[in-house]
Amino acid sequence: MLIGSFNAQYISSLNGDKNALVSGGFHVRVTTMGDTHYSNPTIHTEEHHLNKYRVRLGSFISIASGCKFLLSGNHDWMRTTTYLNPYIDRDSEGILSNGDIIIGNDVWIGMDCTIMSGVTIGTGSVIAAGSVVTHDIAPYSIVGGIPSKLIRKRFDTDTIDRLLKSEWWNLDESELKKHSNLLFSRDVEQFLDIIENKLK
Ligand SMILES: CC(C)(COP(=O)(O)OP(=O)(O)OC[C@H]1O[C@@H](n2cnc3c(N)ncnc32)[C@H](O)[C@@H]1OP(=O)(O)O)[C@@H](O)C(=O)NCCC(=O)NCCS
Repeated sequence: MLIGSFNAQYISSLNGDKNALVSGGFHVRVTTMGDTHYSNPTIHTEEHHLNKYRVRLGSFISIASGCKFLLSGNHDWMRTTTYLNPYIDRDSEGILSNGDIIIGNDVWIGMDCTIMSGVTIGTGSVIAAGSVVTHDIAPYSIVGGIPSKLIRKRFDTDTIDRLLKSEWWNLDESELKKHSNLLFSRDVEQFLDIIENKLK
């Protein structure tokens, strides 16, 4: 079992490499506004899965302290024993993963959450403190608990559709700064009106 932090060995950018670079071991966007903010989350994986599975991150992500990403490490429970074979050095077949963990844009993961392999957390979602995420989460959901269940949606369906279509997280930093009073306000409607007009 390898236990790593959020460095380039384990993570990659979801929005394409055009906006991402590896700096000091960390993957960051060129725009300072869209960096991922995180408090020392850990990624658990296996050596033989290192180049196969990744945590793929969007932009504008906040990850609180104590979070774990279980990218690999499922012992094969369909075998006679879950105990790993001591007769070979690296029992790659005995340890499984359900695939990449994908975290969309504008996701906030609360304190002490665990995210299982193969899970996609949709853009705009909130993961309540102490949750264990075992299934995909639809965009703009607030989920909580073990396993995490839908608490509510952040916005109505029409607003969610507009936010997803706008892809505001991909706008230039200068453009976002110009409208930051609305981006960081509760007036989602007015923010969308302005962004949609620009995209016409
Ligand atoms: C998810 C969260 C944002 C909701 O906050 P809120 O809007 O004030 O919501 P409420 O406290 O009114 O709770 C709403 C519902 O969610 C449930 N809920 C809240 N937190 C929950 C949690 N951690 N796990 C499971 N359910 C939770 C409440 O029981 C309530 O359910 P009900 O409607 O059936 O009564 C907040 O509870 C949370 O987990 N924040 C994370 C804080 C954190 O980790 N910060 C770290 C610094 S970045």
